[in-house]
Amino acid sequence: MKILLKNGKLVDFKNNCFVVRDVLIDGEYIERIDRNIHSLQTYKVIDAKDFYVSPGFIDAHVHLREPGGEDKETIYTGTKACAKGGFTHVFSMPNTQPGPDSKENIEKLLETIKKKAVIEVTPVASATKGIDGNELVDVKELSLMKIAGFSDDGYPVENLEFVYKVLLNSLKTRKPLITHSEDRSQFNTGAVNRGICSEYFGVDGIPNSAEYNMIDRDLKILEETGGHLHICHVSAKESIDLIRNAKLKGLNVTCEVTPHHLSLTEKIVIEKGTAGKVNPPLRTEEDRLRLIQGIKDGTVDMIATDHAPHDLDSKNKSIEHASYGFSGAETAFSVAYTYLVRERAINLIELFRLMSYNPSKVFGLKREGEIIEGYYANLTLVDLTNEFRVDAENFISKGKNTPYQGAVLKGKVEMTIYKGKIVYGEGER
Ligand code: DOR
Ligand code: ZN
Ligand code: ZN
Repeated sequence: MKILLKNGKLVDFKNNCFVVRDVLIDGEYIERIDRNIHSLQTYKVIDAKDFYVSPGFIDAHVHLREPGGEDKETIYTGTKACAKGGFTHVFSMPNTQPGPDSKENIEKLLETIKKKAVIEVTPVASATKGIDGNELVDVKELSLMKIAGFSDDGYPVENLEFVYKVLLNSLKTRKPLITHSEDRSQFNTGAVNRGICSEYFGVDGIPNSAEYNMIDRDLKILEETGGHLHICHVSAKESIDLIRNAKLKGLNVTCEVTPHHLSLTEKIVIEKGTAGKVNPPLRTEEDRLRLIQGIKDGTVDMIATDHAPHDLDSKNKSIEHASYGFSGAETAFSVAYTYLVRERAINLIELFRLMSYNPSKVFGLKREGEIIEGYYANLTLVDLTNEFRVDAENFISKGKNTPYQGAVLKGKVEMTIYKGKIVYGEGER
C-alpha cells in the first residue's frame, strides 16, 4: 500500500528552509514530493500538518549488546528504542561477545540484524581481535563487508602501527578508523571527570588530557597517512580546538558529540551519582560551551548518542564500580532540541542536519540523509509543542539508565518511517 504524507513541513537542506509538501511513498522509496498530491482510496494517508519532517535520523554510535549482552539489550529492543528516537539507521559498536572481528562473526551478526532489526543497522567492526588491542583484524577482508569502519570502542587503539594500517586502508576503502580516544596511562580507575567531581567522590578522575593527547597523537599519524579518522563522543574543550585546526589543515577528520555532553556537566554526577557516570565523563560548563561552539562553527560533524544500555544492578554500585553509560536513543532528539535549539545555539534545520544529512555524507550512505524523490522513504516526524517528563519506565530499551529521569523536555518524535514502513508512531506514543 502506498503511503501519502499530507502537508508536513519538510526540511530542505539545500535551500536552508522548510517547505510544506505532500510526500508519496511507494514501497521502500519516496516516489513523489509535491504541493497537493491527489489521494487515492488505496493509499494510507497520514496527516502531517502539525509536524516538522526530517530525513530519518542516523546514529553513528549505539551499543546494541547482542551477541553476548542480551540481558542489557538485544538487536530487537535496541532498534525498537532507536526507532522511537527517530532513527532509521544506526551503527552498532563492537564491544560484544563475540565481537565483529572476523568474516564469520560479522556474517552471523548481519544475519541476526536481518532477522531482528526494525531499522537499518550497519556494524562497526572491531579494530583488534576481541578488542583487546593485541592483534589487528583482517582489515582488507572485512573492508569488503557491510561495515561502517573499525573501532575498539570502549577502549582506545593504543598500538600505533594498527592506527597507521587502518588509516592507510581507509584511503582506498572509505572504512574509517573510529576512535574512543583515551590515553589510559593517565589515570587508574577513572570513574568521573578529574577535578571537583573526582575530589567530591574521593576517586581517581579522567582528565581532559587523556582525551586530547590521544586525539593529538592520532591526528599526527593521519597527517602522514591520509585517510579518514572519525573521533567518537568528543568531551573536552581542547579536543575541539585540535580537531578544528586539523580540519583547517585539510585533514579528513570528523567527529561526533553526544546529547549528554552538550546538555549536562559533572554537576549532575554530584547530584545523581552513578546515574551520571559515563565514559568519557561529563565535564565542566566550559567544556560543554566549547562543544556547542564546535557545533556552531562546523568542527562537530554530527550528534551521536553512544546509547549504552545497562541493567540497574550494574548501575547500583559505588561510583568506582558502576557501569559507564546512558540509555540515550529515546531522549536524543528531545534533549538536543531542548538544550540546543530552544536555547538558541542552533536552529532546527541545523539540528536535523547534524542528525541525518551530515552522518550520511561523512559515511557515504546512499539514498539517505535528504528528503528527495528516489531516496529511501526514511522519515522522522517531530512535534515541537509536545512537552513531557522523562520516565525511564516508559523506555522501550531494556536499559533504564538515564541521567534525565524526571527532566522536562520539549519536542518529541511522533513517527518514524523506515523504508516505507511505520516503525514507530501508531498507537505507540
Ligand atoms: O559510557 C560508555 N559506555 N562508554 C564506553 O566507552 C562504553 C559504553 C558501553 O559499552 O557501555
Ligand atoms: Zn567510547
Ligand atoms: Zn560507545
